[in-house]
Amino acid sequence: MEGLSSSSFVKYGSFFSLLVFVLAYLFRTPPDAMLHDRLDNVLSSLLRAESKVGMNNGARPKVAIGFGGCVDLIVDGVSLMNKMGLTTIDQPLHHDYIENAQQLAQSFAYFFAPGAASERFVMNKTLFSELVETSRGLPGNRWAVGGNAPVMAGRMAKEGCDVLLGGSFSPDFTEVLSQHIMVAGNVVEEPDIHLILEYPAGASWGDYTSRRANRYIVHSDDHNPYLDSMEDFAEKLQDFHPDLLVVGGLQMMDNFPFKSDEREDLLSHLADMLSSSSAQTGVHFEMASFVDEGLMKDLLNLVVPNADSLGMNEQELPNLLSLLKGSNITVLSDPNPRVATVLDQMRELYRLLNRRHDEDADAAGRRLTRLHVHTLAFQAMMVERGSRWKNTMSATAKASLTANRHVCGSPDIDPGKARLIMDDSFSISRREGSQRIALEESRPVSCWHEDGYQICVAPVLVCTEVYQTAGGGDNISAAGLVLQI
Ligand SMILES: *[C@@H]1O[C@H](CO)[C@@H](O)[C@H](O)[C@H]1NC(C)=O
Ligand SMILES: *[C@@H]1O[C@H](CO)[C@@H](O)[C@H](O)[C@H]1NC(C)=O
Ligand SMILES: *[C@@H]1O[C@H](CO)[C@@H](O)[C@H](O)[C@H]1NC(C)=O
Repeated sequence: MEGLSSSSFVKYGSFFSLLVFVLAYLFRTPPDAMLHDRLDNVLSSLLRAESKVGMNNGARPKVAIGFGGCVDLIVDGVSLMNKMGLTTIDQPLHHDYIENAQQLAQSFAYFFAPGAASERFVMNKTLFSELVETSRGLPGNRWAVGGNAPVMAGRMAKEGCDVLLGGSFSPDFTEVLSQHIMVAGNVVEEPDIHLILEYPAGASWGDYTSRRANRYIVHSDDHNPYLDSMEDFAEKLQDFHPDLLVVGGLQMMDNFPFKSDEREDLLSHLADMLSSSSAQTGVHFEMASFVDEGLMKDLLNLVVPNADSLGMNEQELPNLLSLLKGSNITVLSDPNPRVATVLDQMRELYRLLNRRHDEDADAAGRRLTRLHVHTLAFQAMMVERGSRWKNTMSATAKASLTANRHVCGSPDIDPGKARLIMDDSFSISRREGSQRIALEESRPVSCWHEDGYQICVAPVLVCTEVYQTAGGGDNISAAGLVLQI
């Protein structure tokens, strides 16, 4: 009897589990819908986090931003390379600057396959004109206001700031800027052109396929490296009394053929300007793609010590850190680093820079109190407790949303064109036994305190229909800053 009832129980049991299985199958949520729900939840939670705080108690913050600007000519990178007849190369190769078409192809290949952002100076004017002429003839080419400073200025004005912009522009360039932007600098006839070679993830060129969407930038700029708006900018700054002073665009000096001490003189002037700015003004320096070691060292000695805040991407962080530790610069790093890796690098950079500051007894400079790193998959911010920077959680959410808005080219985020590529949970450090934090849909920005600072990490809703990657870092950094001043 016992045996029988238990076997019939087994029978009914398996019948029921089969029934449950069939019902679950019939009424299941398809995996796509589940993913969509998750994206919708993360999106609405990020939007809530972004709008949780207002800006500067309702008053328009004042922001001064230097230096330079250009017009960007944006083209599909692969189309341009093909049209130039550059279809195959022996091997990808890094070049500090570009002298001929073969070097261009090698350098493009070097960054295209991993999908790392990069920017190089073209020494050869003939080659550069050929590139511009060919780009003009490509279908789908676009012109846009470019350069770190004008892009950050545009974003800040859009977010409700009054901006003083340092750059020398042509009259029609100045005309398209927001009415909340006042320009300090000279008037030039012809603005410099920067060529933006965009490519989507999975694009193929020759034997190479890009791992992620990004851009390769070339220019042959001979105004911007001289920071020629600096004098006028410094003068207007005296009466402007900004809440925030932002420095970017210095990569125009990278590998530029300056005469003897020209570069150091320019950066010393900049250092004087920064160190004489009021303690009420926060100073932010936006890093960029640098490979000129001499320039990087000047930046480390003259600019970085005068900044309270730094912004950079996943390539620029290991590059700066490596140089600070006395090693070579790093030209190419993992374009999709893990959260733990980036946070460890941020902690180290923060510690090393502040140790340098503390050890320098007569240092006139500033302590680093804010560090923002933007990557494809997530945004990470580190802010000293009790410092001037407010609303770190909301600022991280805003930076994350801006990444999608910029790359998709629309202020409204469509979850159908977005993907979360950050893992469901992340370790806060690569040290063994480190805490893991789960990504919660309803509270996607994770914030916690460590030694004297707060860290916030937010996932990015990575845009899958790329409109433009160039200028992303500038829009993202600017968006993060506006909520913190
Ligand atoms: C500069 O570029 C032009 C056009 O591609 C090329 O003919 C010339 O050889 C290059 N000059 C140098 C010095 O490489
Ligand atoms: C690294 O630095 C050493 C010594 O300064 C130099 O010889 C070497 O070429 C550098 N390597 C790279 C990849 O720049
Ligand atoms: C990024 O900044 C530029 C320049 O201000 C602007 O034209 C562009 O629309 C911005 N991107 C987004 C998504 O707002």
